[in-house]
Amino acid sequence: MQSIDDFHFELISSPEPLERSAEWGKQSSREALAGCLKKMGINSKSSEDLTIIGHTHLAKHPQITASISHTRKVGAALTSNRDQYPSVGIDIEFVDRKIAHGAEKYFINEDDGVEVWQNILLTWTLKEAAFKALSPYIDKFDWPKVLVLKDIWIKKNQFGLRGNTKILGKTSSRIKKAGELEMIISFAFLNPLL
Ligand SMILES: CC(C)(COP(=O)(O)OP(=O)(O)OC[C@H]1O[C@@H](n2cnc3c(N)ncnc32)[C@H](O)[C@@H]1OP(=O)(O)O)[C@@H](O)C(=O)NCCC(=O)NCCS
Repeated sequence: MQSIDDFHFELISSPEPLERSAEWGKQSSREALAGCLKKMGINSKSSEDLTIIGHTHLAKHPQITASISHTRKVGAALTSNRDQYPSVGIDIEFVDRKIAHGAEKYFINEDDGVEVWQNILLTWTLKEAAFKALSPYIDKFDWPKVLVLKDIWIKKNQFGLRGNTKILGKTSSRIKKAGELEMIISFAFLNPLL
């Protein structure tokens, strides 16, 4: 399998109190995006520099693909090069988040690899990341309906659309501490469109 060799991500945890957390998480995701850009040699001075168009690329730097995720007081961002990946997706969740028993029937399908059952929360985040990478380009795949997580399969760090074995992209994940909190961070990278 081709390796995922050219991406940047940042995870930022806000020190602000939990009651204001939703907004702070969102703000942190923008700071995380600024951090990714800095790693790519770009200094973002205004919110305009951080505007993502069509959930795929930066308005001011169209060659950079970007995705963000936020939850409570934590925000994260992922950037890559558009030549390498036309679209990317990131999703974060606290490792202690509980998925309701039985809820997996809403997002796991018969084409998923057997490994998806080992960690349902991880599978959820991988599918959310793949959804973010895929949904902006779904019209390129003749998909007949509104895309939902259950339409996406995950197998051996790759993803595609249910009912079709074609591999559309790659996934990866890691566990990282954000302050006191442990998070699952999942990434998805859409393959170049032929
Ligand atoms: C869009 C979606 C992926 C967002 O995920 P989330 O976990 O709720 O939120 P996150 O914080 O991780 O991500 C939010 C960011 O995703 C991005 N986003 C929103 N819609 C998007 C889309 N269609 N494609 C790519 N990225 C998208 C935005 O940048 C957003 O940040 P912003 O609102 O601050 O600009 C999710 O709400 C969704 O629609 N999932 C698929 C539908 C589904 O099948 N649901 C589950 C049924 S069991």
